[in-house]
Amino acid sequence: MNKHYRLAIGLIAAMACSGVHAERVHVATPSSSLLLDAPEGGNLRIMHYGSPLGAGDLESPGAAGNDIRLAYPAYGDNRPELDYAISCVMPDGNMTLYLNVTGAPEKRTDADGSEVTTVTLRDPEYPVEVKVNYRTWPGEDVIETWTDISNIGKKPITLTRYDSAYLPIRRGDVWLTSFYGSWSNETRVNNEELKPGIKSIKNADGVRNTHTAHPEVLFSLDGPLDEQTGRVIGAALEYTGNYELRVNTHTDESAYHSFYAGICPDQAAYTLAGGETLTTPPLALVYSDSGAGEVSRRFHRWGRNHRLAHGNDLRPILLNSWEGVYLNINEEAMAGMMNDIASMGGELFVMDDGWFGDRYPRVTDDRGLGDWTVDTNKLPHGIDGLIDEARKNDIKFGIWIEPEMVNTRSRLFDEHPEYVIQAKNRRQETGRGGTQMVLDMSNPKVQDIVFTVVDTLLTKYPEIAYIKWDANAPVMQHGSQYLPADKQGHLNIEYHKGFAKVMDRIRAKYPDVLIQACASGGGRVNWGILPWFDEFWTSDDTDAQQRVFMQWGTSYFFPAVAMASHISVVPNHGTHRVTPLKFRADVAMTGRLGMELQPKDMNDEEKDFCRKAIETYKQIRPVVQQGDLYRLRSPYDNKGISSLMYVSPDKKEAVFYWFKLDGDMMTRFPRVRMAGLDPDRLYKVTELNAIDRSPMGVEGKTFSGRYLMDNGLEMPTHYNVEWKNQTDLSSRVLHLEAQ
Ligand code: GLA
Repeated sequence: MNKHYRLAIGLIAAMACSGVHAERVHVATPSSSLLLDAPEGGNLRIMHYGSPLGAGDLESPGAAGNDIRLAYPAYGDNRPELDYAISCVMPDGNMTLYLNVTGAPEKRTDADGSEVTTVTLRDPEYPVEVKVNYRTWPGEDVIETWTDISNIGKKPITLTRYDSAYLPIRRGDVWLTSFYGSWSNETRVNNEELKPGIKSIKNADGVRNTHTAHPEVLFSLDGPLDEQTGRVIGAALEYTGNYELRVNTHTDESAYHSFYAGICPDQAAYTLAGGETLTTPPLALVYSDSGAGEVSRRFHRWGRNHRLAHGNDLRPILLNSWEGVYLNINEEAMAGMMNDIASMGGELFVMDDGWFGDRYPRVTDDRGLGDWTVDTNKLPHGIDGLIDEARKNDIKFGIWIEPEMVNTRSRLFDEHPEYVIQAKNRRQETGRGGTQMVLDMSNPKVQDIVFTVVDTLLTKYPEIAYIKWDANAPVMQHGSQYLPADKQGHLNIEYHKGFAKVMDRIRAKYPDVLIQACASGGGRVNWGILPWFDEFWTSDDTDAQQRVFMQWGTSYFFPAVAMASHISVVPNHGTHRVTPLKFRADVAMTGRLGMELQPKDMNDEEKDFCRKAIETYKQIRPVVQQGDLYRLRSPYDNKGISSLMYVSPDKKEAVFYWFKLDGDMMTRFPRVRMAGLDPDRLYKVTELNAIDRSPMGVEGKTFSGRYLMDNGLEMPTHYNVEWKNQTDLSSRVLHLEAQ
């Protein structure tokens, strides 16, 4: 065991350099240390976050004189030029908050093996208590931090800011990587040097919190982000609702930039009654001194082991009906699709939107949401009939629902207009189809309705193995018809508390069902939601070329096992781009492989190619879904190629992907050096999904891991093949097996 780790979470009494006796709290994982100064009656300060500290380092690491690095800065007790993590209004109108350490830090070990260190802070004059918590995951090198904010008095106290965490980032050549996008263009990567000013990454959708921005960032401390070198901090806020991440690059003499992350407090003042506590969502942190790749691998491992539902299980290969038939669900089409996917080796069929509604059958997208009864015009034999068909084909059956939403054209809305989110005395704001509204999840009756949608389906049809849980509208107008007038500001938080309660109930009763998080595509890709969900729909855009970019961005924090990636038709329904089937299959095989098309429109050659690709994917599925990701060549470098690989944890097997994004003929690209292999092993190379008439020169040959990592292999583009468009968007997949 690492010597630093033996000191983990030790509470160390040391002499600070000032000579004042101080309590030092060391929160550590094998590869990172967070050191706090927690003197009784004084401020809690962060002394260090980064590389592991040894015993000799714990007394005064990096103590930089007058630098203020409060661990949880409160408005009023911070220097005026500094931002703050928490602010409130006391019952007498006082807007300042002082937070001093009280008592000794506490430590506990939870049943899941993680360890929690808690430092309690109190205002000396007012009844506010804040517990600052740090949870360590030694196996994955992750530290989570969050707070419990309590009103320990009798009169109400209103919180106006309540971040989960604050982190000082030492100034230097610091670069920030963040993620941005829109519907059908989610999770684009933005790398920028930190410049003077405040950068705010915010989401106020109410429901779909990752279309536009993401609550995850990376700080590269030594210049532009690199995959394999440099000190990098990765941070992910585990929350399903509105958030704000702020980076304040101070322009004064301060040695640090300030990073704050938490629930977005805009229009969300939160009043704590006497005795009440608000627990903020955790911020997960990873520190690596060997680049972004290691940050990603640690997040992936931690996610698979401790957060993602069934994170260590392999996912079935599925066909989803959406792009194949859209809302035109009918028995014949469903049966045909099930038969086709089974014949290609698929394992699950998912019937998407369009199967429900009685008073307002879902023939168009402006009706039916809220009424989860089978449309027997479309499906005369109901879901039982479909399950019979799935059974006949020896595949599993899954179904689409959107239970947090309602159309104004629905039985539910006719009977209970009070269940929707809507401001008093204002015109009705609607979304998709001009009739979609969000149900008020702060209302326990609505929570029951949403739970019952799933409960009824899974009780009536226990063979349903998979649910695609969609959410296609934002909160368009602030207003809860359930919350009282003085608690309207609680809507965002109460919505997501209600959502969490429903998901907890569902998971308690149905622990095994697979659930996909979808929200108009990739609107719910975050570590707040994944504990209840097995995977997410990465984007409604299934264009393989654009997916290379979006999936690259997604891979910084989320593992392939959760990243749904489907083969669809060309021209692509969104971009109208034509990409070769091989390229589409290869891209889909970097994530959780599926198909999203009408197989009956495929020709035999295409079906045969997909059947073989599915068979191949089954072979490499454990490496892709449970292996370690190495990003080799970013598509954002605009050098015409992109490349990545997965390596099994024992380094006996790897899958290497190479994508040519440039359409020109006869261009030459630098060889891509591989990574993550055992330098001393020999690996045999086999091309997967090959379409050339003659094999690649390296086919069946062996190379040492060292050679592959130092030199890489030449990747020929495809020539002289009968398939069209092959020099444009060609791709290679290699299987490496240790001999
Ligand atoms: C959203 C989803 C799609 C599909 C449709 C159905 O847009 O992202 O995958 O399920 O809804 O209406």
